[in-house]
Amino acid sequence: MKIFYFTATGNSLEIAKLLGDTFGAELLSIPQVIKSGQQEFSDDKIGVVFPVYAYNLPAIVTRFFRSVKLTAEYTFAVVAHGGDPGNIGGVLAKAVKLDNVYTVRTWSNYLPFCDDVPPVHIDVSAGVAKISEEIKAEARKEFGMSNEEPFEIAPWHNMALDYKWRSNCTACGTCAKVCPVGNFTLDADNPDKNGVPMFRFTDHCEGCMACLQNCPVSALYIPNEPTKYRYRNPNITLEEIIAANKVTEI
Ligand SMILES: Cc1cc2nc3c(=O)[nH]c(=O)nc-3n(C[C@H](O)[C@H](O)[C@H](O)COP(=O)(O)O)c2cc1C
Repeated sequence: MKIFYFTATGNSLEIAKLLGDTFGAELLSIPQVIKSGQQEFSDDKIGVVFPVYAYNLPAIVTRFFRSVKLTAEYTFAVVAHGGDPGNIGGVLAKAVKLDNVYTVRTWSNYLPFCDDVPPVHIDVSAGVAKISEEIKAEARKEFGMSNEEPFEIAPWHNMALDYKWRSNCTACGTCAKVCPVGNFTLDADNPDKNGVPMFRFTDHCEGCMACLQNCPVSALYIPNEPTKYRYRNPNITLEEIIAANKVTEI
């Protein structure tokens, strides 16, 4: 089995790893696969794990599905969500033909809608074990096509242009390293690391929150954000997120 995954704060990666342990599957990061240019994959079973964004696919996941050929006896998606995945099976059906789509409730990492309370890790192990049984049985389900088109460009692709760094920024570059689309440029006019950021955004933001949520000192923020708290799945390390998402040498 091969499992492709996209993650910003580790929830999808935790699910992918639990499935990987159960099935002895090979795990492949979608940003790294896109970077590699490899387009054809085959196995007995192929799964794709990613978060729902606005009842839709992360744009990078749509682009992945539209650029690769996946050949397997059984194909499935597992979609992490923060409480309401909408008709994600129906949107996915417009991007790719899969044999089943499963959903898993997780903590919502969408910072602009988070309450000012400490994040809670939601235990997904029982839910993923149940899904694993269905995958073993090759359970199939059809989803009626949605009226929504799968995102190819994130509707909030300019969002990060409003992000700011507080003066406690150490210019460690974590924000740039966890960005799955290399949405950062080095600010050559300001390279001195005196507590002022060296990095600037461009307009390819996926809205994934990886940069905001994974900053080791919570320096990066959205003006008027509703919470001071940050979230990364406690079973996933920063190094794992960087390994999954780092696509540039910044
Ligand atoms: C841009 C964006 C939009 C989101 N939209 C939804 C949504 O429509 N419904 C929902 O239940 N969760 C939504 N979420 C929450 C994520 O799907 C959820 O927190 C997921 O577990 C994050 O996965 P990750 O840790 O692998 O990045 C959204 C998150 C982001 C960043």
